[in-house]
Amino acid sequence: MKLFDCLSSFGLLVTSSFVLHSFGIAAQNASSPWPVHDNGLNDVVEWDHYSFKVNGKRLFVFSGELHYWRIPVPEVWRDLLEKIKAAGFTAYAFYGNWGYHSPNNFMLDFTTGAHDFSPLLEIAKEVGLYVIVRPGPYVNAEANAGGFPLWLTTGAYGKLRNDDPRYTEAWKPYFAKYSEITSKHLVTNGGNAFVYQMENEYGQQWVGDPTHRVPNVPAGNYMQMLQDSARENGIDIPVIHNDPNMWTRSWSKDFSNSTGNVDVAGLDSYPSCWSCNLDECTGTNGEYVAYQTINYYDHFIENSVTQPKFFPEFQGGSYNPWDGPQGGCPNDIGADFANLFYRDLISQQISAISLYMMYGGTNWGAFAAPVTATSYDYSSPISENRIVGNKFYETKNLAMFTRVAHDLTMTDRLGNSTRYSTNPAIKSKILVTDFTLGDERLIYSTAEVLTFSIVDRKPVLVLSVGIGESVEFYLKGAKEGKVAKNRGASDVKFHRESHGLIVNLAQGPGASVIKLDNGVTVVVADKITAYKIWAPNLTNDPFAPVDKSVIVEGPYLVRGVFSSDEGKTLALTGDSAITTAIEVFASRSVRTLTWNGKNLNTSRTEYGSLTAHIQGVSHIIKLPPLDTWKVHDSLSEALPDYDDSGIAWVEADHTTTPNPTKPDTLPVLYVDDYGFHNSLHLFRGYFSGPATGVHISIAGGTAFGWSAWLNNIHIGSFFGNSTFGSETGNLTLSFSNATLHTDTSNILLIVQDNTGHGLREQATNPRGILNATLTGTNTTFKKWEIAGTAGGDNKILDPVRGPLNEGGLVAERLGWHLPGYDASSWNASSPSTGFSGAGIKFYRTTVPLDIPKGLDVSIGFILNAPGPQAIRVQLFVNGYQYARFNPYIGNQIEFPVPPGVLNYSGENTIGWRFGVRVLRGRRWRLIGRSCIVWRVVGVLALIQSI
Ligand code: GAL
Repeated sequence: MKLFDCLSSFGLLVTSSFVLHSFGIAAQNASSPWPVHDNGLNDVVEWDHYSFKVNGKRLFVFSGELHYWRIPVPEVWRDLLEKIKAAGFTAYAFYGNWGYHSPNNFMLDFTTGAHDFSPLLEIAKEVGLYVIVRPGPYVNAEANAGGFPLWLTTGAYGKLRNDDPRYTEAWKPYFAKYSEITSKHLVTNGGNAFVYQMENEYGQQWVGDPTHRVPNVPAGNYMQMLQDSARENGIDIPVIHNDPNMWTRSWSKDFSNSTGNVDVAGLDSYPSCWSCNLDECTGTNGEYVAYQTINYYDHFIENSVTQPKFFPEFQGGSYNPWDGPQGGCPNDIGADFANLFYRDLISQQISAISLYMMYGGTNWGAFAAPVTATSYDYSSPISENRIVGNKFYETKNLAMFTRVAHDLTMTDRLGNSTRYSTNPAIKSKILVTDFTLGDERLIYSTAEVLTFSIVDRKPVLVLSVGIGESVEFYLKGAKEGKVAKNRGASDVKFHRESHGLIVNLAQGPGASVIKLDNGVTVVVADKITAYKIWAPNLTNDPFAPVDKSVIVEGPYLVRGVFSSDEGKTLALTGDSAITTAIEVFASRSVRTLTWNGKNLNTSRTEYGSLTAHIQGVSHIIKLPPLDTWKVHDSLSEALPDYDDSGIAWVEADHTTTPNPTKPDTLPVLYVDDYGFHNSLHLFRGYFSGPATGVHISIAGGTAFGWSAWLNNIHIGSFFGNSTFGSETGNLTLSFSNATLHTDTSNILLIVQDNTGHGLREQATNPRGILNATLTGTNTTFKKWEIAGTAGGDNKILDPVRGPLNEGGLVAERLGWHLPGYDASSWNASSPSTGFSGAGIKFYRTTVPLDIPKGLDVSIGFILNAPGPQAIRVQLFVNGYQYARFNPYIGNQIEFPVPPGVLNYSGENTIGWRFGVRVLRGRRWRLIGRSCIVWRVVGVLALIQSI
């Protein structure tokens, strides 16, 4: 009490042991001595050391990242953006992926299927979210080559990420087109994109110690060229950057006036590491210390003192490494992490946060860099299968508060001493004093504010407490109060004070409603009940004005609200798979509620809210069994008389390579040098003479593998491993088990399953054979032929799925994985029967689905194999490669596949190839009656009545 008494003339926040205050936005605007910046082109977006302003209004940016290329179904993007909006966010962010848009150095695709990202920006406008656009050219993102196109990885374009003219010429068309498309959706142009990021984590402004400020000239030139290109192509919003850590100090105008500086310099941080393999947590962000928050405040003061404290990336989860557990690694970065760390940011005056990732998605096709498995779930608030759970709700509870607590956009730090609280257990609460609720004031509250809405000119305030915690709040101007609804409240006391009314209570599970005589309604909910309290807005204004929002308690998700019938009907949209009671605080003029278009039997409570029940889903979704399969051998290339003169094959005849890593033997057998880049590649080496064996060294990235056959006899396999950073697999194989022809050509077939190109400077590490040396003879290989993705990178045969979908297996080259392929002549067999020995088989089935319209059903495939079999399996669903199941190396067994890739009302073509890294003499199979099962991961929603 004392604390608040002595400071009661200020707006004030107590966050753990920190105290922030705001004098109120109006007062500060008039008197602030701090410069307000704009980018010199317009003042639509401005900023100062407090926050961003859009069209003159201060904005608390609570944003989250998603990657459209990791969910290649534009129809699903709306679902994700509506979920982000429902969570109280004001913005979202996305990276581009140059490689997805550019199959070769003369083509760009921004129009076919999900390559057209403009719907993302249009939906953002419709649902009311500002957008942070981050085109690259380099993004990192655990994407193959960090999002670079794979044709760029050969070394022919230099080291990349500098001002080398070869690289410059390469990125310009991509970056120009990206800017041009985005420019139609800027806040300066009626859209919602409000900042544009240059590069990513490019902390390379300085040579040596940044405090000496010795510019790295090529880096500065590169950053400047990016900005010039963006400006030339219509980007007139502020350009930003995302510095990788606190010691690189790059691109801030407050730190230097060097070439390449951006308008607003942001920082990223992953305090709990960025991988659930904690051994990796030593580099970029320093040593991992569990639940230890980090001091960023001083860094921002030193580095960007006149700019908002901005995290274009803050840890929203962590990626799934090959050896990580199935389902990701949520333990260190679950709901508790969100609760503590995001509040801590606010205590450090951060006013712009973007969570990386908000929705992670899937590394389908060859999207992954070698470090990560198929799943990019990222333990993010919205799961890969689009389900939301506690982490989403925990994040939502804070974001909803930041959206209504406008003073957060203008706070000063009073201090960070523990004298503000005598309770050491207080770690992460944000408690407000003198908090504005429209025309009313909350003098203080010991419960956190979840949100508030102004309904018929009076506030409905929602407070959130830990279960059983006692609460005290003091409302200015009230004299009396009563408990209008008691759900778990006890010891309720009202105490009249000189300025208003103090209310005390203990709140158990549930939400109680207290009415005060000045018209204020206070809902006090325990935290878990508050998880299901929403504040949808009647406008698409990202600021979500409080007098246009309603409060809804009950459903799993409330996406939106609109009013019809001259305000008499309130139409809610949302998800609820189970029958749920809802309570709505909305204008008295509303008489009826609808839920996803269906009228609800609506009643009014004594205290003015509306109640109803929404029906859950009664359908039991049964998926047809996957038990009728056809099989075809997919390794004809091992046969000595196989004809490799066809168009799929390229003779490897290069004797030099632009790659900085030179091979030990010639010809050059780097696949990218021959226009092949993804997943599986085949090498056929011809030799004659009396060799006794062969030494092979192949670079393929962490978790890659390869197998070799001599004259159709399997002679060995490199199984691979998940060791972080392991790039190559070397074996010396004996020919003793094979029959060697002394006078004719022998064929050594090598099948390599490449896991992609590495990140940052490792992007140009070669993929392919580094050394192929015959042993026991002086003879060398006479000739090598290479096959990869059909058409190489000159012809893009499948523009919809795009350049990263397929590899070079005969099954892929001949389209066995595609819908419509006629496999009627194939033999019947199933992957659960499997096969003996080393080989590659392709299994195929077609199954109908008939998911009732209006249901949002999430479906996943589960793969299993008895024991840690040395098999490598890929799943193709309607031609999309949606799983890499490598049980010998990785732990992922469940693979969600989104609607749109699966046809929910028609036939689906499911293909499998498995084999490659197998031992001889054993039967390899997948388990389960039908070997592969698919299951309904969840019925997420009843979108419309059926
Ligand atoms: C960041 C980077 C992101 C992503 C993340 C780890 O440092 O900017 O692109 O790689 O690490 O998931």
